[in-house]
Amino acid sequence: MNIITVNASKTYDVKIGENLLDAAGTELRALTKAKKAAVVTDSNVAPLYLQRLEASLREAGFETCAFVFPAGEASKNAETYLKLLRFLAEHHLTRSDLVVALGGGVTGDMAGFAAATYLRGIGFAQIPTSLLAMVDSSVGGKTAIDLPEGKNLVGAFYQPMLVLCDISLLESLPQENFLDGCGEIVKYGVLGDENLLSTLQKDGLSFDREGVISRCVEMKRDIVNADEFESGQRQLLNLGHTLGHAVEAKSNFTLSHGCAVSVGLAVVTRAAVKAGICPQKDGTQILSALTALGLPTKTEQDIDALFSVMLSDKKRSGDSITCVIPEKIGSCIRKKMSISQLKEFMEAGM
Ligand SMILES: NC(=O)c1ccc[n+]([C@@H]2O[C@H](COP(=O)([O-])OP(=O)(O)OC[C@H]3O[C@@H](n4cnc5c(N)ncnc54)[C@H](O)[C@@H]3O)[C@@H](O)[C@H]2O)c1
Ligand SMILES: [Zn+2]
Repeated sequence: MNIITVNASKTYDVKIGENLLDAAGTELRALTKAKKAAVVTDSNVAPLYLQRLEASLREAGFETCAFVFPAGEASKNAETYLKLLRFLAEHHLTRSDLVVALGGGVTGDMAGFAAATYLRGIGFAQIPTSLLAMVDSSVGGKTAIDLPEGKNLVGAFYQPMLVLCDISLLESLPQENFLDGCGEIVKYGVLGDENLLSTLQKDGLSFDREGVISRCVEMKRDIVNADEFESGQRQLLNLGHTLGHAVEAKSNFTLSHGCAVSVGLAVVTRAAVKAGICPQKDGTQILSALTALGLPTKTEQDIDALFSVMLSDKKRSGDSITCVIPEKIGSCIRKKMSISQLKEFMEAGM
């Protein structure tokens, strides 16, 4: 097992290893005197792992209750969030009690936002079950729900007290969802770790789960420690996402997030090479890591359509967009560009 400590406004451990689910009760008991633990999970994950988690929590002296919602991004909305708050109230959870998110990023984001806001904040722990949640969403304290007007428009920064990544749970994760996490993993490799990128290139989908997830969490930890509230460096995590979000939205979400990010990453990499910002050999290596994992690097969408979507992105400030560009593997820069500059730049990478 690897333990990575995050030093944000709260200090907490991210533990990564096999068979951690059954130890959740003991792990949490060491951190909190909470009487009750409300588990939040979705309809796919509940039949697989909820019983085991509740048993472990009860064994450690927690009274448990479980809120199960229909799996999928469509549930990450105000309606489910409100139902969840009322569930916590009906079960009389107090400020010293605990919300445990068991699931992917949808579960973690929504449960985290409920924990941040119910009684102005109650105890919160994450047990991520998707690869994306393990390497990205469960660490760093961003919580959110979607509005009809856009994704993640309402949320809070709220750090958990513990993150338990049980890699054994990945065995049941559908391949498509696994690939989503892979898109983010390549992103981390490009941001700061040439070794990670060459491991992915060499091993493809059979990469060492514990080692690679731990490396990604360490990198996210470093970025969050430096800039918890996303005023600067944390924006680097948007690498591949500026165009990626547009590709995802333009496909009406039929292309998954990780695959869209992969396309975004590929386009910005080719653009950086063409503009002479990134050496050709680094660009080639980035693209070959994406391909080794079976991720897409091209889109059929045209640049005008993608830009019209991009213009409604909340990360835009005024008439410019900050774009994250690879300079070489292990180093990316943030560049503020006008819409027309960005379009010209990206078009070269399509
Ligand atoms: N907070 C952050 O910093 C942050 C970062 C990135 C993404 N996100 C958010 O994360 C969400 C995407 O996360 P996701 O891809 O995990 O989506 P998700 O939670 O919907 O999970 C994907 C699918 O996999 C299923 N699943 C999860 N774990 C499983 C397992 N072990 N076995 C079988 N099925 C399993 C889920 O039921 C779901 O159908 C988005 O809402 C995104 O906005 C948040
Ligand atoms: Zn992402």
